[in-house]
Amino acid sequence: MPSSKIRLDKLLSSLGYCSRKEVASLIKDGVITHTLNLPLKSDTKVAHDEIFFEGEPLDPPAGMVILMHKPLGYICSHDDGEGRLVYDLLPERWRRRDPKISTIGRLDKETSGLLLLTDDGALLHRLTSPKHKVSKVYEATLDRPLKGDEGEIFAAGTLMLNGEKTACLPAKLTVIGPTHATLEIIEGRYHQVRRMFAAVGNHVTALHRSSFGDLELKDLKIGEYRLINKELF
Ligand code: URA
Repeated sequence: MPSSKIRLDKLLSSLGYCSRKEVASLIKDGVITHTLNLPLKSDTKVAHDEIFFEGEPLDPPAGMVILMHKPLGYICSHDDGEGRLVYDLLPERWRRRDPKISTIGRLDKETSGLLLLTDDGALLHRLTSPKHKVSKVYEATLDRPLKGDEGEIFAAGTLMLNGEKTACLPAKLTVIGPTHATLEIIEGRYHQVRRMFAAVGNHVTALHRSSFGDLELKDLKIGEYRLINKELF
């Protein structure tokens, strides 16, 4: 389907390349060009795929879904004052995109693994709604050996977390070793995995999310990301 046409200055500013005002001088300097070398002005109506910036095709248009391998120590927040942000791992100009890119849910600062981000507000809303049940698998390292009854307790759907009014939905524990297990949950309550293990008298010392629905990190290295097809959701 051919992409719709919008003003060049609007297109480039929405993708974070420059301000609308800067477009005229960037055209003059040959930084912004037409793929067929057609003449351009700030208000020329163009399609996304007709434009080069510094000789390169433009970043993806709005409607992106990003699958990131979140490293430990990075925060899922837009607030610069809080430390290293997951957005720092993306190209710098993506911070200026409009619509804005946000994480789909959050991983704690000290949790690594699969994190999704998008600039699609409707998708974000749908995937973070409590009604949306998608399975997420976490690999947990524990402070103390498992006692043996945790799997049954988590599966029962009766576990109450501190300060909550409803029990956790059934979750599936797979024991890997005395202090190592995976937990599959379909909710996304605040610090849920750490709090579930705390509720059975244990303490999570390391946490990594290995999947979200059918999505996996595969060979994505720590701190790297790839774009995925939003039709997958
Ligand atoms: N549960 C947690 O405790 N932390 C996370 O980051 C995700 C799920």
